[in-house]
Amino acid sequence: MHGFEKKEITIAEVKEKVVLDGNLVSATSLEILFPKNTKIQDTLIAELKTRNDKYYLITEKVNENPPLVEKKFHDDALSFIRDFFLETKNNNAVSIDAFQYIKNLNATLKTDMSLRLFEPYRLNLFDEMEDPSDWVYNHTVNTVILTMFHSLVNDLPPQEINDYTVAAWFHDIGHAFSDPELLFSRKRLTEEQWHPLTAHPHKAYEMLKEIPVSDGVRQGVLFHHENFDESGFPTTLPYSRLPKTSRIIAMASVFENLFSAKPYRKGLGFIGALSTMFSYADTRFEYDLLSRFVRTIAKASIGDAFFYAPGQYAVTNLGEICIIRDVTRDLLKPVIDVVTEANGKIRKTFLTINLFNDYNRRLGKIYTYEQSLVVKEKLSKAVWHSI
Ligand SMILES: [Fe+2]
Repeated sequence: MHGFEKKEITIAEVKEKVVLDGNLVSATSLEILFPKNTKIQDTLIAELKTRNDKYYLITEKVNENPPLVEKKFHDDALSFIRDFFLETKNNNAVSIDAFQYIKNLNATLKTDMSLRLFEPYRLNLFDEMEDPSDWVYNHTVNTVILTMFHSLVNDLPPQEINDYTVAAWFHDIGHAFSDPELLFSRKRLTEEQWHPLTAHPHKAYEMLKEIPVSDGVRQGVLFHHENFDESGFPTTLPYSRLPKTSRIIAMASVFENLFSAKPYRKGLGFIGALSTMFSYADTRFEYDLLSRFVRTIAKASIGDAFFYAPGQYAVTNLGEICIIRDVTRDLLKPVIDVVTEANGKIRKTFLTINLFNDYNRRLGKIYTYEQSLVVKEKLSKAVWHSI
């Protein structure tokens, strides 16, 4: 679990190193001049001297605090969820006993997590994929952990914490009835193949009518695939009418889906999932709600580090391509160099903007380092469309 840290470095300090422990970047152009693990030799120092530049060393920083959630909780919860899916399928109903068990697991998680939040910690999720069918169980447990964490750090009232977390336990139980060939497919499904799987929120909602959960829980489950731009399913309500429970479960569930492995791809981890989540601002998720979620998860998982580094490319909400210049003041409001107009036309000169003081612009999609190289290449050939 690591993020990036930026430090200004002088040539004298570079000289003292045997090998570079991070990428050496030009503070002016933000280009990587020498990558991590480069051996320091006289020729390198001479090259730096001729550049007459300032330099950053971008290192990886690991949050080494103790894990927030015990492996034992995950193991217990995972084995319960497996049985719960099977039992629900066999009985075509959610049992009261299972609901009681969920309440007990929830109480344990809440107490343990509340106590650990007083000490330094790192938010840890689990990514176990020996058996492809595990993803849906692991996904449920991780979504519960994320929802509980988000609720506790935002100091929500007990009733809300209860509703959100109970809804998280139940949110994908409708998948107990999904076709395993589709649900656990090792190939990415086409939209047509995927369609039958969209029945799962409604199936869960119907079963939850038979057990004593609140309306907030039932509706949170029913609407957990609805999006801010109303592009989700089952699309029976406009976004403004959706219960808060479903908005929270949707963020936790999507983040988890990005974070952990699926039968057809590897997990993106915290850094990849945080960057991708941010590209859903104003489409799948409301900006303010998403910002709070991203900030909280970033701080808890990678500590004081950043999930992107100077030199990476991004797109603003206006559609302009920009380079991230400085991220020290605010995680989601860095200083950027705008390099294209909204229509993709390359600007004659870069426009440097501190997003902290700009009320029109926001950071949108953030490209990874690898994608940033492709963007840079396309811009240099002035054939920018989109990737
Ligand atoms: Fe779902």
